[in-house]
Amino acid sequence: MGRLGRHDRLRDRHTDRAAGDAGAGVTLRIDVPDADAMHGFGVRLGRALRAGDLVVLTGPLGAGKTTLTRGIGEGLGVRGPVSSPTFVLARTHPSLVDGPPLVHVDAYRLGSPAELDDLDLDLERSAVVVEWGAGMVDGMAESVLEVRIDRRDDDTRHVELEGTGPRWVDDQQVLAPR
Ligand SMILES: Nc1ncnc2c1ncn2[C@@H]1O[C@H](COP(=O)(O)OP(=O)(O)O)[C@@H](O)[C@H]1O
Ligand SMILES: [Mg+2]
Repeated sequence: MGRLGRHDRLRDRHTDRAAGDAGAGVTLRIDVPDADAMHGFGVRLGRALRAGDLVVLTGPLGAGKTTLTRGIGEGLGVRGPVSSPTFVLARTHPSLVDGPPLVHVDAYRLGSPAELDDLDLDLERSAVVVEWGAGMVDGMAESVLEVRIDRRDDDTRHVELEGTGPRWVDDQQVLAPR
C-alpha cells in the first residue's frame, strides 16, 4: 500500500453544490510529487471507475496524462500496456477481471467534437479516458470527470478533479481521498 498511500498530500477539498445547478459536482485538489505518485493516484481512480464513466484529462505535453491513464488501467485491471495513443485515436484495453474495458483516446489531433463522436466509442460499456479532451466531449455524456494537471516549476504536479453530472454528484466518495 505504501506506494499508493504516500503521495497525495491533501491540500483542500470542497464540495460545491450550488443551489439550482444540478450539474455541479465535487472538486478535489491534490499535490502529486512525482510520476510514481501520479501512477498511484490513477490506480485508485481506476478502481473506482465503472462502465459508462467518462474522464477527461487536461494538461500540457508531459503533464502526466498518460502516466495517470496507465495507473487507471492498472486500477481497472485491464490488459496493457497503456501507452501514448498518439498514432491511433483510440485504443481499447480489455478487462482481465471481468470489468469494463478501458478506452484510451488521444483527442489531440481531433478537430471537433463531431470527429470524436465519429469514433463510435462504446461509452456505455466502457470506462473512457480522453487525453486532450477539454471541449471535445461536450454533450457526449451526462456526467464527466475532468482532471486538470498543472506542472509546477519544481516538477511536481497539481491535480484538480471536477466531476459534473449525477454520477459524480451522487457518488462523491469516488473522489474522496483514502
Ligand atoms: N509529478 C509527476 N507526475 C507525473 N509525471 C511526472 C511527474 N514528475 C515527472 N513526471 C514525468 O513526466 C512525464 C509525463 O509524461 P506523460 O505521462 O506521457 O505526459 P502527457 O501524457 O501529459 O504528455 C513522464 O516522463 C513522467 O515520468
Ligand atoms: Mg499523453
